Amino acid sequence: MVKEEWRFKANNEVHAAASLTMRNILELIMGNIDVTQTGKPMIHLGHGDPSVYPCFRTSPVVEDALVEAIRSANFNCYATGAGIDPARRPNYPTYEARARFSSLEVRHFDLLPEKGWEVDLDGVKRLADDKTVAIVLINPGNPSGSVFTYEHMQKIAETARELGILVIADEVYAHQVFGEKPFIPMGVFGAIAPVVTIGTLSKRWIVPGWRFGWIAVTDPVGVLHKTGIVSSLKSCLVISAEPPTVIQGAIPRILKSTPESFFVNINKLLKEAADMFYERLKEIPLLACPHKPEGSMFVLVKLNLSGFYDVVDDTDFCMKLAKEESMILLPGDAVGLKNWLRVSFAAEPKVLEDAIGRLKAFCLRHAKHY
Ligand SMILES: Cc1ncc(COP(=O)(O)O)c(C=O)c1O
Repeated sequence: MVKEEWRFKANNEVHAAASLTMRNILELIMGNIDVTQTGKPMIHLGHGDPSVYPCFRTSPVVEDALVEAIRSANFNCYATGAGIDPARRPNYPTYEARARFSSLEVRHFDLLPEKGWEVDLDGVKRLADDKTVAIVLINPGNPSGSVFTYEHMQKIAETARELGILVIADEVYAHQVFGEKPFIPMGVFGAIAPVVTIGTLSKRWIVPGWRFGWIAVTDPVGVLHKTGIVSSLKSCLVISAEPPTVIQGAIPRILKSTPESFFVNINKLLKEAADMFYERLKEIPLLACPHKPEGSMFVLVKLNLSGFYDVVDDTDFCMKLAKEESMILLPGDAVGLKNWLRVSFAAEPKVLEDAIGRLKAFCLRHAKHY
């Protein structure tokens, strides 16, 4: 009898897409690090997680809220899909949903560096077709570190209205601004076009490992309710892994009682780090930063590739930097910006100093004319 080979029907498209996640790219780069060879401790500026640095430790109020929630024994139960009641504000429907949409096509519009990383709204109109359902924005910006003005956001909302679509506003860096421009929530423009806002404890409260986020809907005209989008969101909750109930139990106290001074201090640390990085980067040949970051934890740095003798692109730069300097940055390609680097400046000053020194040494070593 001929033994038939068993052919497993793998979904290669899904595998290919999954291998392009930011986490995978960072892991690949991390694989190049060998601290015993360089003798240098690893510096990870590839993602926005300053929780490892003592100066960025979360507020004691946040820690106490979690302890209190655990000790109360009120949150040892199974959670409801849409989040337990105390974690949801009355009259302010907040739904936690972490869903994957396998049939969704994402088209990237451009951000315009010459306009301070504003959205190319003409490009959005060109990309949109009758299947387009939403425009997704990140403000304050990742990867750009920019903050949108009120006027620009209004234009974004008007564009969405013209196209008959909603706005998904990723505001995980909400209120983390330290330049001239204030943070304006996209929900302000909900009457022009409906807005689905994504928030999280991760960045503002500096506890990314807690895995707690939320979705808020601003829909004064009721479009998202009438068209079934809110009920679709709710139905996704049934299949998602909800955050632990004790964290949900701690939420009311965290949101109500974290002192303003905590946020002010975090923004001050971020501003000092952003200013320092931006200024010191000017010393480094072949790297340029067109805009000082005004918010979030990231800055984009442009590579002048023609000046290197053996660095072929942004990914090559990051792989070699990891190997030679034990330092991790994210290649811009991972966020659609070929030959840029995304750097998180959310680190303590002495680590940033060290990072600048290593970047400079690396660039000098690989530059054609030095
Ligand atoms: C723009 C943006 N959205 C969402 C997330 C994910 O947030 P969380 O870690 O809370 O899932 C991140 C994390 O870096 C982010 O930068």
